[in-house]
Amino acid sequence: LRVTWDMETAEKGGFDHFMLKEIYEQPKAIRDTLAGRIKDGLVDLSQEVGLTAESAKQINKIHFVACGTAYHAGLVGKTVLEQLTRIPVEIDVASEYRYRNPIIDEHTLVVVVSQSGETADTLAALREAKKHGARVLAITNVVGSSVSREADDVIVTWAGPEIAVASTKAYTSQLIAIYLLGMYMAQLLETSVVASIGNLLDELQSLPEKTEEVLGQADKIAEFTKSIVHHEHLFFLGRGMDYAVALEGSLKLKEISYIHSEAYAAGELKHGTLALIEEGIPVISLATQHAVFEKMVSNIQEVKARGAHVLGLASEGDTELLKSVDEVMYIPTIHDLFAPVLAVVPLQLLAYYACVERGYDVDKPRNLAKSVTVE
Ligand code: G6P
Repeated sequence: LRVTWDMETAEKGGFDHFMLKEIYEQPKAIRDTLAGRIKDGLVDLSQEVGLTAESAKQINKIHFVACGTAYHAGLVGKTVLEQLTRIPVEIDVASEYRYRNPIIDEHTLVVVVSQSGETADTLAALREAKKHGARVLAITNVVGSSVSREADDVIVTWAGPEIAVASTKAYTSQLIAIYLLGMYMAQLLETSVVASIGNLLDELQSLPEKTEEVLGQADKIAEFTKSIVHHEHLFFLGRGMDYAVALEGSLKLKEISYIHSEAYAAGELKHGTLALIEEGIPVISLATQHAVFEKMVSNIQEVKARGAHVLGLASEGDTELLKSVDEVMYIPTIHDLFAPVLAVVPLQLLAYYACVERGYDVDKPRNLAKSVTVE
């Protein structure tokens, strides 16, 4: 008997790399993170989150604190929680938080987001928040991690082990946990969104299937990647939550393909960055947020007029974008609030294919660690 595979090959389950496997595991990760948390048409986090209607009403501000990709999930979370709870939300990278003397008290809810639950800066921020009397809620992928042990409340993301340094399924699962938290708090606070919670939950529960649909377009992304791999600089543009997703797409690309990119809030372009747009530069433009769609189209026209090669990402049916871009990819129609989950997937695939095409190590990029346990 001759064994032609090793343990690592077996663990990759037929995929060439852990990252690709983990990208494809997202529908399951989302499903598992939702499982058991929706009952009788409402979100039920009563087993995990100790907040009551009474204590929720005492919260007058929310702070998100995290690093890297988890920080980008928090950026989406800021909009999500403000929309759903109407409580003001701030967000910090964990390495900055405790050095800026933030205003924290017993009316502050601090949400720390950490895949590993072991990131040194995130843990230190959690301790700082607790020292000042805040309630700390952790969103983490590792049961029993330091962050989960020290937080008051824990929402576990059921993404399963994430091996690739570049985080993918942990990010989308973090978004799901944030949606659940937002809706649960809205219920406790009885905000106006409660009237449409049924509709929101239907949309939320449609995400696994719609993520599958996006994955079904992987070939198209692989094709588009060819037009970016020989560039050393490119841009991502978006408005609102698309800007948060653009930041995550840019990070993914930098982390593994070593192509330098910048993510820009599209309306801010003309305050400097437009000077860098020249003939042929790839610009990946996200236009999934209907509230700012028209604004986004004019920003795209600004870069097109300067010769950029534009890949647009829009919702199915928004074919108007076609007139202004060179190539377009569509995500299935979804409520704006949930679009980040679908919009990030093509960007993850783009980074993956760019890395493969350029011949770098997908799962172990240079100089980076999966979990950073030193300051
Ligand atoms: C490292 C990883 C990133 C991750 C960040 C935060 O930099 O390479 O992928 O987003 O740490 O990690 P955490 O485990 O706290 O989410």
